[in-house]
Amino acid sequence: MNVETFPSGTGASGLTAGAAPKFMCRTYGCQMNSRDSEKIAGMMYALGFEETSDERAADIIIFNTCCVRENAENKIFGHLGQLKALKAQKPRLRVALCGCMIQQDIIVEKIKSAYSFVDILFGTFNLHRLPQLLRDSLETEGMVIDIWKEPVPKERGNTPDGLPTRRRHAYKSGVNIMYGCNNFCSYCIVPYVRGRERSRHPEDILEEVRALAADGVREVMLLGQNVNSYSPAGAAGFPELLRRVNEVSGLRRVRFMTSHPKDLSPALIRAMAECEKVCRHLHLPLQSGSTEILRRMNRGYTKEGYLSLISALRGEIPNIALTTDIIVGFPGETEEDFRDTLEVVDRARFANAFTFLYSPRTGTPAAGLPGRVPDAVAGKRFNALLDTLNKIILEQNTRLVGAKLEVMTEEEKGGIFTGRTEDNRLVHFTAGKTASAAGPVPGEFVDVKITEGRAHYLIGRQSDDQTGSYDGAIF
Ligand code: SAH
Ligand code: SF4
Ligand code: F3S
Repeated sequence: MNVETFPSGTGASGLTAGAAPKFMCRTYGCQMNSRDSEKIAGMMYALGFEETSDERAADIIIFNTCCVRENAENKIFGHLGQLKALKAQKPRLRVALCGCMIQQDIIVEKIKSAYSFVDILFGTFNLHRLPQLLRDSLETEGMVIDIWKEPVPKERGNTPDGLPTRRRHAYKSGVNIMYGCNNFCSYCIVPYVRGRERSRHPEDILEEVRALAADGVREVMLLGQNVNSYSPAGAAGFPELLRRVNEVSGLRRVRFMTSHPKDLSPALIRAMAECEKVCRHLHLPLQSGSTEILRRMNRGYTKEGYLSLISALRGEIPNIALTTDIIVGFPGETEEDFRDTLEVVDRARFANAFTFLYSPRTGTPAAGLPGRVPDAVAGKRFNALLDTLNKIILEQNTRLVGAKLEVMTEEEKGGIFTGRTEDNRLVHFTAGKTASAAGPVPGEFVDVKITEGRAHYLIGRQSDDQTGSYDGAIF
């Protein structure tokens, strides 16, 4: 299919002669989905489409969905409902849904019955089929559904690797190094919708990273649901991959997520310590501080095990910033279990955390567990957790006042620049006197003198002098 399929003046948006047809892609969920959406955009541009953020101007609307918690799904259904009227006005508009949510049979049934105006459904294993599915949708009546239950092996061809991509940012990029998850944490739907672990070959990954660096990317984030269990057939594991990515010239920063505590080996900690481009930051989901809840979650570590990992990390990489994910209100969670979570939070001194209320997911073992925590109790614990976290984070950020930190500039709004430090803290800053008229551009590294610390960000100004530096003692 190509741009001719949407002849000018007859497309959903009433195109004027010579104008390219438009697609809009809405992305929900994690970095994995964001990266998939860059591949969707790459395919759409290759077909001659241009991107729009205006639903009404789009010829094709694609929702790349997430189902990790119920509220993610509810939000998507809400947005989808709003498209019904638009579709009625513009029958040639194509609405496509893909991603994790679509891998669930019950969702497909719900869409067929309640959202029958949707044109195309595909899943997480066959992203690359989008051009063909669009063509099918234009040539046939009714919903086009193509959902695979598992990936087709590489040797049989027809896989999503090597798709064209259209990056959201010129200066940073995600890079998939492995797909899927074998952990089956008892609350989590990801293994069911993303399949078993598959690791890409290191040479393919390095080739992609080198091409990105040559194209101006300064920061890469190596991506996997379980990035540190990366184990390619016949090649070395994650620590060695990290060392090789660290050597790619042109790159300034290397990040990775998400790591699982059970796979955080001494060899990985050593590699992180020794690779100067690997950022002094680790996202290490805790989920719960209670050993009993961790056992029921099938996480494979204990409260003490998690705390000793943190000691090992801080022993090798002084001042590493740790961030985490925590679930509140897992079935059977008692006040004592929750106090264990607060204790670990207090001892770990997290620099940031994503906190979630437990959400039962159909088909996961935890959904059938007794001991549902009443909403009011879970809500109270959730707020207490936020209070504890905010206090700890504010203490760290306040101690950074006066420090000079290197920041990679990401964006500018009304004269205020925003970027991140090596340890992933968000910084809002003003340009220095010596900066060019427009100030630093996205992707530019600047030194910022911190003037104020808040719980969710730092405030500063671009440094004009070389005095003052970060002595690192904030924990
Ligand atoms: N692979 C990563 C992230 C998976 S999803 C990991 O293992 O950590 C991101 C986060 O969503 C999880 O870390 C967990 O904290 C949260 N999450 C997953 N399933 C959930 C559920 N059913 N209810 C509430 N939070 C959930
Ligand atoms: Fe889900 Fe656990 Fe796998 Fe993370 S490690 S994706 S939480 S099953
Ligand atoms: Fe959501 Fe799928 Fe990511 S369920 S969190 S988009 S792997």
